[in-house]
Formats: sequence, structure tokens, C-alpha cells
Amino acid sequence: MTVAQVDTEDRRAMPEGWTTASTSGALDASDVEEYRKRGYLAITGFANADELAAMQKRAVEIVEDFNYEKASIFSTTDQKRTTDEYFLASANNVSCFFEEKAFDANGKLTVEKALSINKIGHALHDLEPVFQTFSRSAKVKALLRSLGMENPTPVQSMYIFKQPSIGGEVVPHQDDTFLSSEPATCVGIWLALEDCTVHNGCLYAIDGTPDVHRRMEVDFPGGTRAIEFVGEAPRYDVDAARPLEVPAGTLVLLHGANVHFSRANTSGKSRHAYSVHFVDLTVARWRETNWLQRAQDFPFRPL
Ligand code: FE2
Repeated sequence: MTVAQVDTEDRRAMPEGWTTASTSGALDASDVEEYRKRGYLAITGFANADELAAMQKRAVEIVEDFNYEKASIFSTTDQKRTTDEYFLASANNVSCFFEEKAFDANGKLTVEKALSINKIGHALHDLEPVFQTFSRSAKVKALLRSLGMENPTPVQSMYIFKQPSIGGEVVPHQDDTFLSSEPATCVGIWLALEDCTVHNGCLYAIDGTPDVHRRMEVDFPGGTRAIEFVGEAPRYDVDAARPLEVPAGTLVLLHGANVHFSRANTSGKSRHAYSVHFVDLTVARWRETNWLQRAQDFPFRPL
């Protein structure tokens, strides 16, 4: 039996919206078609165990070094809390954000610091060598180019912990709401660093790429920066969502208009993931109203 035959049989056994990673990272035409139709594609075996371990090790070190006295809490159910300068500044650095449930009523941590962090963001791909290596790897570039991106440019990266017991939900959303180019070109890669199940807060995705009517923008009322949402919050048919219970090493490709979410982690197991979002700055313009703006001496850099 040839390798090609094994590949074909693997693919037949895959659920719809799934495929296996090619050696180069590029997708074939049928996978690209599937991605465009569904707005997502789960690609198993995209990263190897060494890559996953290196990213996990570095994330632990970053949290160990994190001085949490002045940090803010990240919560997608209460975006107001994210309107502070700590969040906006994280476009240009590597910041840690707490789980909402990490503190008691008196403001004391309810769990040890290592288990209290919701995520690290948002410039890991440019400032942390381990994450830079993966985000800018030849296989990621081949993957994005196979989608037709001429000049894939990473704009945001996040290490997401989804901590045991307190890992918060991420409400249904479209990434284009948060990371908007004109025209829309956003593509997310979401790499499972650990096995993901419905118990530890796996991704859920709704088939399709509906129009985006809502944007998170930065405004300057009274001269200070404030985050606001423009446009109506749509109602999503969350009952139609499919859980993506993927093994570690799987990369989930997410179209900027795809609706996806994850539920709270109520299990005793963490669910670490690393995600990077790309836009194509050859054919599109980064909006000045996006929350994420780089400093003049730290511009976006294409792959
Ligand atoms: Fe997302």
C-alpha cells in the first residue's frame, strides 16, 4: 500500500470538515473548497509533539515571570473590562490576562497563579522565538498561500489556557468583528496543544461564513481611548454548531466570517491552544479603527 493510498483512506474516515495535514502544509483543491463552504477546516497532525511541548513550556515560563499586581481581567462576557490601556497596549507586547473566575469577592486569587491565566497575547508571533518559529514556519505559509493569500501577515497571536474548572466560555463571534481589514481577509489558525473534548471546552463552529455586521472599534471620546461595538449583535443558531473534538496537534483553520465559540471548561483537564490571525495586506488595508494597532517602530511583518 502506498502512502497516497493510506492518505485517501484516512480522509474517508474523517468527519466532514476534517482532513489530514500534508507534508508541505498546503491544502489540496478539495480541502480548500471544503474550507470555503464550511468556514472552517480541522487539519489533524499539523504540528508534532516537540512543537507542542516547546510552546507549552515557554507559556509556563511567561506566566512564572508575570507580575500580576497591575494586570487586568479578560472576559468576553464583559467586554467593558477589556477597554483599559493594558488590553490596548498588548497589541505591541506579551501580556497575561486572568480568568474571570480566578478571583474571589475580596480580589484574592482562588487558584495558584499558574492556573489562573486565561490567555497570553497579542504579539507572541513577533516577540517570542518559539511562537515566532511556528507562526512563521514554511508549513503555515504554504497552508495560507494554498488558500490564495498573496501576502499572509500575522496581526495577532494568543496562547489560550482554558484552565481546569474555571476556564471561561468564549461567546459566539466572528473574528472579522475584532480584526478587520478592508476588504475582509482575516484567517485564523487555531492549534490544539492538548486533546480537546466537549468536557474541557473544545471549539464549536457553525457551518458557513455569514455577513459581518458588528465591529469592535476604538473611539476617542474626550481624548481617551475606549473600545465600543458598532452594529447590532446578531443572533446565532448555536444549536446548529458542531463540536470540534480534535486531538493535540490538530490545526483548525477559521475563516474571519465563520461563527465559532467555546463553552466553559468544567472538567479537571486544561485545554491549551495557540492561535494566530492573519490578513492579506497586499490586497487589503488594515482599519485604523481596529483595537489592535502597532507602534510605528513595530510594524506588521508578512511571513
Ligand atoms: Fe475567534
